[in-house]
Amino acid sequence: MAKLFNLPFQRSKAPDTPADAGTAGQYPTVRMRRNRREDAVRRLVAENVLTAADFIWPVFVVDGEGQRIDVDSMPGVVRYSTDVVAEAVAEAAELGIPAVALFPYTDPDRKTEDGREATNPDNLVCNAIRAVKAQVPDVMVMCDVALDPYTTHGHDGLMRGEEIVNDETLEVLIRQALVQAEAGCDTIAPSDMMDGRVGAIRTALDEAGHTATRIMAYSAKYASAFYGPFRDAVGSKAALKGDKRTYQMDPANTDEALREVFLDIQEGADMVMVKPGMPYLDVVQRVKDAFGMPTFAYQVSGEYSMLKGAVERGWLDEKVVLEALIAFKRAGADGVLSYFAVEAAKKLKAG
Ligand code: PBG
Repeated sequence: MAKLFNLPFQRSKAPDTPADAGTAGQYPTVRMRRNRREDAVRRLVAENVLTAADFIWPVFVVDGEGQRIDVDSMPGVVRYSTDVVAEAVAEAAELGIPAVALFPYTDPDRKTEDGREATNPDNLVCNAIRAVKAQVPDVMVMCDVALDPYTTHGHDGLMRGEEIVNDETLEVLIRQALVQAEAGCDTIAPSDMMDGRVGAIRTALDEAGHTATRIMAYSAKYASAFYGPFRDAVGSKAALKGDKRTYQMDPANTDEALREVFLDIQEGADMVMVKPGMPYLDVVQRVKDAFGMPTFAYQVSGEYSMLKGAVERGWLDEKVVLEALIAFKRAGADGVLSYFAVEAAKKLKAG
C-alpha cells in the first residue's frame, strides 16, 4: 500500500509496497479506535474544546416595559425591552458567556429615508447599552454599525436613487458609532460593508477620546439568504427594497474575503468576523491561517432556525447544536456569535 501521508512521525521503514509490507504504520498494528474506547481518553485526545467563553450572544431589544416578545421565525428567541434585558444578560454572564451583541427592533414610526434614528443618543440600542452596562458591567457589549434597522428602505447605507452611496454613508456611520461608544458600548461592530468604514470609525473614535473602544469588523460579510429570520427579528424584512449585493460579498468568492479582512486590519480592526458561519467555514479557516487575528464567525439567524426547526420537529437530535458549534473552533475561529449561546452554555455545564 502506498504511503498516505509523508509525516515526520511516520516510521522510517514504513512499507511502500506490498512486497515489503510489514504491519508497521498500518492495520492491524495501528488501530485508530484504541484512542476512542473510553470517554476519559476521548477527552484527553480532543483537539478542540468548546466553552461558554467562546460565545457572543446576539440579543434583540424592543420598546416598552416588561416585554419578552417571541420572534416567530426563530423559536426560542425573544426580543427584550430595556428594563428586562439586563436580567437576561446577567443569566448569560452567570453561565460564563463573556459578550453580547445588541440589536434593536426599531418602531416603524422612527424609520426614515436617511435612518437618522441611528445617531440619536437616546435611541433604543443606546438605552439598552446603558441598562446592560449599569447592571452587568463586566460583560462585553457589542453593537452593530449599519443603518438597516433605521431606514425605510431597509438598506445598510444611504440611498440616492437606486444606489447605496458609500462616502456619504460613512459620515452617518461615524456618528452612529460615536453615540454607541458614548452610551458605553465596548466593541463597535460595523456590519454595513461600506468601503473605508473601519478606518473612518477608528479615527473618529480616537479623536473623541474613545481610544479603548474596540472594533470588531464584519469583514467578510456575504449577501446571504440565511439572514432572513434576523430581518424579521429587527423588523427590516418587509422594508427591504431589492437586495444587498452591491455592498455585501458574492458567495462565490474567498480571495476577496482575504482582501476585505486585510483592509480592515490595516484600517485598525481589533477583531475580524466572517458571516454567515457554517456555510463559510472555509473562509474562516483561510482568514485565521492568513492573518492570525482574533477571528470570529457569526452563526446567523437562518442557521439557527434550520437547526432549531429540525430539532423541534424531531427530525434532528439536539446534539446537532454543540456539533455545529465546535465546527467553528475546528475551523480556527476564536469564538462564535450564536443564538444558541445560552442553551449551549447550559448544555456544556450539564456535561
Ligand atoms: C445588519 C445585520 C444583519 C445581520 C447582522 N447585522 C442583516 C443584514 O445584513 O441584512 C444578520 C444576522 C443574522 O442573520 O443573524 N446589517
